[in-house]
Amino acid sequence: MPLDQFRLDNRVAVVTGASRGIGRSIALGLAGAGADVVVASRKIQDLEPVAEEVRRLGRRALAVATHTGRREDTERLITTTTRELGRVDVLVNNAATNPAFGPLIDITPEAWDKIMEVNVKGCLLLSQHAARVMMAQKSGSIINVSSTGGLRVPTMIGAYGVSKAAVIMLTKVLARELGPFGIRVNAIAPGLIETRFSEALWTNEKILGPYLESTPLGRTGTPDEMVGAVLYLASDASAYVTGHTIVLDGGTLA
Ligand SMILES: NC(=O)c1ccc[n+]([C@@H]2O[C@H](COP(=O)([O-])OP(=O)(O)OC[C@H]3O[C@@H](n4cnc5c(N)ncnc54)[C@H](OP(=O)(O)O)[C@@H]3O)[C@@H](O)[C@H]2O)c1
Repeated sequence: MPLDQFRLDNRVAVVTGASRGIGRSIALGLAGAGADVVVASRKIQDLEPVAEEVRRLGRRALAVATHTGRREDTERLITTTTRELGRVDVLVNNAATNPAFGPLIDITPEAWDKIMEVNVKGCLLLSQHAARVMMAQKSGSIINVSSTGGLRVPTMIGAYGVSKAAVIMLTKVLARELGPFGIRVNAIAPGLIETRFSEALWTNEKILGPYLESTPLGRTGTPDEMVGAVLYLASDASAYVTGHTIVLDGGTLA
């Protein structure tokens, strides 16, 4: 049955930045499709309630405190997952940061390093650890959360845009390297989604106004609206898709 292709029964998914916003929606969406889910972010107290929500959906859940910019944390996240749940079928690299708001010409080296460490290096490190497990399994799906800011110059968050463009190329390079091992690597690129992360954008009329004007659907997006594309990329429904970025932006880039 075509709809069965979207099911993830008994697969194991790891989602970073899962304590709130887009990551939380993705974690619950994967659980709803049948996956056991490991949720990760820095603050364990914010993760436990999400793990509990996954359990209420009838799936196994683990909450693992993880700073995705730290190599030892990323390694521990994957080894804990395989020790407790036996495998890694899906990795969603969703955690990201943006400590800088303003012209790129003024950014400090410290802020630049922080953005690249979490948004790009974290994504690479977790993909490396997960890919080793997936290679032994001869299957797996890695999904990176990029941004339309990685495809078109974003207002006042230029370094973030550079990091998200890097995530799109990282996706393509890994898709090429890992395809022969049965591992697919894709990305999603959300537009403006109302979360804590993007608050400085959707509460600023000078940014929100032009966004809504240039967006055919005339509104911002919600975290739950990111789930369908992730289920597609995580599941057999997208078995012949790799190296691709799906844009979820209400048509803004059009
Ligand atoms: N919202 C948008 O408009 C938008 C648009 C395009 C793309 N995105 C992307 O969507 C993803 C999720 O963003 P969001 O809007 O859902 O943000 P959010 O609601 O602020 O959630 C961010 C999540 O990432 C975690 N996190 C932050 N730094 C981390 C680190 N160093 N290590 C591990 N976890 C970390 C946070 O938990 P802790 O603070 O406890 O670690 C939280 O769980 C990001 O990749 C973002 O770039 C968002």
